[in-house]
Amino acid sequence: MAKPLQVEVHNPNGKYRVISTKPMPGTRWINLLIEQDCRLEICTEKKTILSVEDILALIGDKCDGVIGQLTEDWAETLFSALSRAGGKAFSNMAVGYNNVDVNSATKYGVAVGNTPGVLTETTAELAASLSLAAARRIVEADEFMRAGLYDGWLPHLFVGNLLKGQTVGVIGAGRIGSAYARMMVEGFKMNLIYYDLYQATRLEKFITAYGQFLKANGEEPVTWRRATSMDEVLREADLISLHPILDKTTYHLVNKERLSKMKKEAILINCSRGPVIDEVALVEHLKANPMFRVGLDVFEDEPYMKPGLAEMKNAVIVPHIASASKWTREGMATLAALNVLGKIKGYPVWSNPNSVEAFLDEKSPPPAACPSIVNSKALGLRISKL
Ligand code: GLV
Repeated sequence: MAKPLQVEVHNPNGKYRVISTKPMPGTRWINLLIEQDCRLEICTEKKTILSVEDILALIGDKCDGVIGQLTEDWAETLFSALSRAGGKAFSNMAVGYNNVDVNSATKYGVAVGNTPGVLTETTAELAASLSLAAARRIVEADEFMRAGLYDGWLPHLFVGNLLKGQTVGVIGAGRIGSAYARMMVEGFKMNLIYYDLYQATRLEKFITAYGQFLKANGEEPVTWRRATSMDEVLREADLISLHPILDKTTYHLVNKERLSKMKKEAILINCSRGPVIDEVALVEHLKANPMFRVGLDVFEDEPYMKPGLAEMKNAVIVPHIASASKWTREGMATLAALNVLGKIKGYPVWSNPNSVEAFLDEKSPPPAACPSIVNSKALGLRISKL
């Protein structure tokens, strides 16, 4: 028989058995669960990604809810096991849920939670960081210094791109894409071109007003334009950031053909999901166009990179850390725990998952609601009136 996975147990006599497949930042989420009569088991096994078999073993014969991670494969096998164990709730500790087969969950009556609203600014800040790192060649320059190669100032040393007055392109101007666009326009006075099926009205209004403010101060005003196609953004922008969700329609959205439409000195940023870019085509493009730069937080075959990417000097690469600020990660843990707890307790679903501040205020008890359940409609769950 396989060795049982290591777990840390909190409140062993709690009525409801809740599993967290990973330790998560902060302690509030733990306290919220144990105060509400949950026995919490946190898997502490030293293994980065748990397999389906590992999670089946954790679920066992009785389990009321699970908090899981975006690296895990939540589909038929796990949802049927969770339902057999009496479980009604699962929450990803992530806003994205492309690792979850929501239809299977719905079939077994399991609510699927996610954590929107709390990672918008943090993720946009990482996209902005990658944009600057790529534009100003920060990583290459850092490596150069550490290698002891700096022997004096030179006119050509690590010359990069000026962002001010250039065009930032955003593909997918939802919560995170809009926050990123605003940072780049407001902070660096870039002009915006964006592509989205929906109009980003608040963003447009902000840039219009900001442009008027700059003009009134005798400065060059910033501008915005909503493109009618994604290719228009690719052709015109100097810096492009990808913010779509990953589904069948966005798989390899940026492929060889689309890369070839971009400016030779453009910068491409991806903090969404790896498979949105054809990474093999990207490596070829980086090789053929040394002035083209990329900033990547996510990879097609995460945690692996396609051959050649790690050697490319014109790529800045970080390990899926876009949401990794202390405040956000603790908030994500809290929201995930409250999704599971709320469903176990029979609470309704919060009416606006983008406005979750009330759940994050440590000074008062959270509302009696599930912050965000993505299949609430399909399950016919009640919406909170709070
Ligand atoms: C992170 O990638 C998330 O989806 O929360």
